Amino acid sequence: MSPEIERAAAILRAGGLVAFPTETVYGLGADAANPAALQRMYAVKGRPRDHPVIVHVAWAEQLDELALDVPDVARVLADACWPGALTLVVRKRPTCVADEATGGLPTVGIRVPDHPIASALLEAFGGGVAAPSANRFGKVSPTTAQHVRDDLGSDVDVVLDGGPCTLGVESTIVDVTGAEPVILRVGGVSEERIAALVGRRLARRTAGEIPAPGTRASHYAPNARVEIVSAAGAAERAAALRSDGLRVGVLDTDVGPAQYARVLYARLREADLDGLDVVLAVAPDDDGGLGSAVLDRLRRAAAR
Ligand code: TXA
Ligand code: MG
Repeated sequence: MSPEIERAAAILRAGGLVAFPTETVYGLGADAANPAALQRMYAVKGRPRDHPVIVHVAWAEQLDELALDVPDVARVLADACWPGALTLVVRKRPTCVADEATGGLPTVGIRVPDHPIASALLEAFGGGVAAPSANRFGKVSPTTAQHVRDDLGSDVDVVLDGGPCTLGVESTIVDVTGAEPVILRVGGVSEERIAALVGRRLARRTAGEIPAPGTRASHYAPNARVEIVSAAGAAERAAALRSDGLRVGVLDTDVGPAQYARVLYARLREADLDGLDVVLAVAPDDDGGLGSAVLDRLRRAAAR
C-alpha cells in the first residue's frame, strides 16, 4: 500500500478529514463511528446537522456490519451494482454508525465506490467512512482535487488526487426501508438497470430533497443564474440576454448525456471563474440515466 494511503487512513483513525476521489464526485471523509470527527466534517461542510451523509465501505460484505434487517432487494442491488454509483438506504446498526452521520435517523445510506484510490483508502481504514460531496453546503459538487482545494483549502487535512471523476454526478439513491423500494435521487446507475434487477420500475420520490424556495441556498448552485432551455430556444435566448448586456454561457446536449454529466460541475464552476451572469443549459432527455441525473442537478441549480 502506498505511504500516501497509509497516512490518509491514519488521519481518519485520528479523527481527521480526508477528501478522496470516487467515480461520481470527490467526498469529504470522516470516521463514521467517531462523533467528534463527524461534527468537524459537518462544520467544514457548513451542512445542517439533521442532513444525513452517505457511509462508504470497501466491500459489499460490510453491508451487514452496518445495517440491520437487510431486505433481499438490497442484496440483489448491492451484488449487481457494487462497487458503483448506487447508495442503498437501509436500517442502521446503532453501534457502527454514529447518530451524527445520519442526522439522528434510524437509517443509513451505504455505498461501495468504484475507484482505485477510494477502495485503497477504505480497505486501509477498514471501517465505514462518512462522506458528503467535498464542497461547501449548497454549492457545486467537486469533480477534481483542485475543486476541493478551491472550496475547502486548509479545512481538510489531506486531499487525495485521482484526477477528474469519470461519471461526474452523484450516486443513485434507493431507499429499501419501506414496504416498496423508492428512488430518492437519480444518478450514476440508471432506472432501467434498477428495474431490470428488481423486476419492476421503482417510483421516484426525489421531491423531498428539494428545499422550499427561499428557505435556504439551493443545491448545486453556482453564483451565475442557471436557466434551463430547449435546444431550439437556446440561441434566441442567449442573444436576448446578451443584448441586455449580460455575460452568457451555453451548456449543450450535443456531447451526449455521459459527457454532459462528466463536465457539468466543472462548467458551472468555470462560469463563476469567468464572471458569467447566466448559464443557459440545454435540457437533456429525462432518460432514466445520466440525462435524468443532469436534468435533476440543473433544476436544483436553477431553483433559487
Ligand atoms: O456519489 C455520491 O453519492 C457522493 C460520493 C462522495 O459518494 N456523495 C454524495 O453525498 O453525494 P451528499 O452528502 O452530497 O449527498 C447525500 C445524499 C443527501 O441527499 C441525503 O439526503 C441522502 O444522501 N441520504 C443520506 N443518508 C440518507 C438516509 N439515511 N435517508 C435518506 N437520505 C439519505
Ligand atoms: Mg452533495
